[in-house]
Amino acid sequence: MSPPAPLLLVEGIRKSFFGVEVLHGVSFTLGRGEALGLVGENGSGKSTSMNILGGVHQPDAGTMLVEGQPYRPADPGAAIAAGIAFIHQELNLFGNLTIEDNLFIDNFPRRGGLPFINRSAIRKSTQDHLAQVDLDLAPTTPVARLSQGERQLVEIAKALSRNARLIIFDEPTTSLTRREVARLFGLVAKLKARGIGIIYISHALDDVMAVCERVTVLRDGAVVGTGTSRDLGVPRLISLMVGRSIETIFPQRTAPPRPSDVLAVTNLGQPGVAEAITFTIRAGEVVGLAGLMGSGRSELARMIFGLDPFRSGTIAVEGVELRDPTPARAMAAGIAFLTEDRRGEGLLMEAPIADNAVLASLRSVANALGLIDGKRVAAASRTMAQKVRLSTDRVEDTLVKHLSGGNQQKVVIGKWLMRAPRLFILDEPTRGIDVGAKQEVYRIINALVEAGSAVLLISSEIEELMGLSDRILTISRGELTGGFDRLDFDREAIMTAAAVGADHAKVSS
Ligand SMILES: Nc1ncnc2c1ncn2[C@@H]1O[C@H](COP(=O)(O)OP(=O)(O)OP(=O)(O)O)[C@@H](O)[C@H]1O
Ligand SMILES: [Mg+2]
Repeated sequence: MSPPAPLLLVEGIRKSFFGVEVLHGVSFTLGRGEALGLVGENGSGKSTSMNILGGVHQPDAGTMLVEGQPYRPADPGAAIAAGIAFIHQELNLFGNLTIEDNLFIDNFPRRGGLPFINRSAIRKSTQDHLAQVDLDLAPTTPVARLSQGERQLVEIAKALSRNARLIIFDEPTTSLTRREVARLFGLVAKLKARGIGIIYISHALDDVMAVCERVTVLRDGAVVGTGTSRDLGVPRLISLMVGRSIETIFPQRTAPPRPSDVLAVTNLGQPGVAEAITFTIRAGEVVGLAGLMGSGRSELARMIFGLDPFRSGTIAVEGVELRDPTPARAMAAGIAFLTEDRRGEGLLMEAPIADNAVLASLRSVANALGLIDGKRVAAASRTMAQKVRLSTDRVEDTLVKHLSGGNQQKVVIGKWLMRAPRLFILDEPTRGIDVGAKQEVYRIINALVEAGSAVLLISSEIEELMGLSDRILTISRGELTGGFDRLDFDREAIMTAAAVGADHAKVSS
């Protein structure tokens, strides 16, 4: 007797966009109750492979079998019907609807086959599915009121309500708190125990190792290796991903900070958000801000950039007070801000790279009459593309929505770099980008700082803060709770200072 067919077999998938082949024969298998990690550099083809599995795109060649049966979904609905659920990074729920309506929106149970919606059946079923994901919420709660982590659990409940056999997670942890991540991992273990197969895409390689039994590595649209997490290990994964080994990911900076202050924040206060916050950043200095999600770290950045109000205190850039800050005034004073939410605030998805790149520096590409000079736009954005090592230099005819997630981020960073800011505020600058691109971003930050700019760096990754900062400040519940010089960096001490009283932290983010 032959062994039972695997849950999923993918063989030789090819896919081209606009005549350019981006998947060159991708193959892998997945067993019941198994979690397979899918890793690779930005643009290596992870999301495209999953879009094919999820019925979003059609393959040009190759076969897929689900439990031995040919599988070729014509659209996402067909994938769901076959038991394949795709939890996208940007979740697909309707914020203005309740949880139960989101669960049943395209699948309302009818009463006795009649076109009357059976509310009580919906409610009961929603309750059951919420219980399966350990979410203690009323089915009538509007989704808009849920945190990112809770929305993700609702998506998983939705997948379970459609009898998913396989659940794909594309970068599931990027906007979750640490507690939510732990909860998600617990749930994934439960799903596996029920025999559900998991495909897990992430740039957080430690997470991949923790969650997955096996890992498949993609490079340039082809599988370059598959192995068990135990055999591979993170360093080997990285060298498979980038085709070289990376020993020190943080490049050295040679020039020390200069004596003059670029930023001086004095007694900044806003009830419930910030409490008498005072600090400076010198020219040529990177100050890291360590704090848990909701500690006020992003809020502080937003106040400095004029996005959020503050009631008391002052902000000065190179000795000049920034009065009533607005983003326009902050930019005029030489501040650039890479927000945490790149998709929401950073990019015009339907526009080409070039237009996005010059968005923050229109004046520098205008001619003497103040008109936008197309040639200058193209030249400037091509230089930008090289600086951040974008995957393409076709800046005028590549739409941002056609770039991979990581390359989209590089466009946002590049857009601000073109302004040569005096103070660059970076909120989670390397979220969602691969190790190779991370190193690029670190190199860019260092070059900027060596040229005399100041950087305020916010990151959830303590290694990143310690690797790049000259000083680290910790923030908790809107208050600075500690300061560390590079020579005294101590992981435990920093994390402890950042977590002071954090259990009671209740700052909306
Ligand atoms: N709809 C599309 N049209 C044109 N090109 C596309 C489209 N979708 C993806 N691509 C291209 O396919 C390649 C693979 O992209 P994909 O999104 O699969 O990468 P990824 O591995 O998910 O990267 P990331 O880690 O950045 O999310 C990239 O070169 C991307 O520009
Ligand atoms: Mg992707």
